[in-house]
Amino acid sequence: MEVSTLFSTPVWSKILSEDFSALLKKIIEKKFDQTGALISNKGGYQSNNIRYIKDEDLQNFISVLNRNLQSVIEQCEILGNRKFEIGNCWVNINEKGNSNDQHYHPNSFLTGVFYFEIENDSGDLVLLRPDLMKHYTNIMSNNENLFQLIKVKPKKNSLIIFPSWLEHKVEPNNTNKPRISFAFNVKEINDLNL
Ligand SMILES: [Fe+2]
Repeated sequence: MEVSTLFSTPVWSKILSEDFSALLKKIIEKKFDQTGALISNKGGYQSNNIRYIKDEDLQNFISVLNRNLQSVIEQCEILGNRKFEIGNCWVNINEKGNSNDQHYHPNSFLTGVFYFEIENDSGDLVLLRPDLMKHYTNIMSNNENLFQLIKVKPKKNSLIIFPSWLEHKVEPNNTNKPRISFAFNVKEINDLNL
């Protein structure tokens, strides 16, 4: 029989070719926020919102992310003249053993993450099934439409964007190198507190 896959969960990805090494150096030095915050991270460093810090490398990087984001927004075919861009963003540095608990991103449309430094075993991004099938845990399948979770192994310089309502977590970093990522939430421009 023919099958239709309804209500799918889009996940976009792209390897960016730009050189962000100057920005990465500042991130490693925690130049934008020395103290950090405790949000979803179990150990490691997570900065507060750094969206509006006046730094040329940071703002150029956010502009590159925003440009890539706009092609994703176009694919969403949103009705009405509504405009979206990066609303808040932060840096994550997971050292060996650090991970991020299961969470989602409220008050946001899409969420993205860019990986500055990531090794093969420094923590997969785990996307959890969003619908009620997750309660039927005895059903196991080889068909990816019936998976309970999907593990994404991000690559260095990759940008991943997914719906903010999609619950996710980050597995522990099993390497001796820090896992460095930059995450952001996408909001309607009218909702930004500029
Ligand atoms: Fe997250």
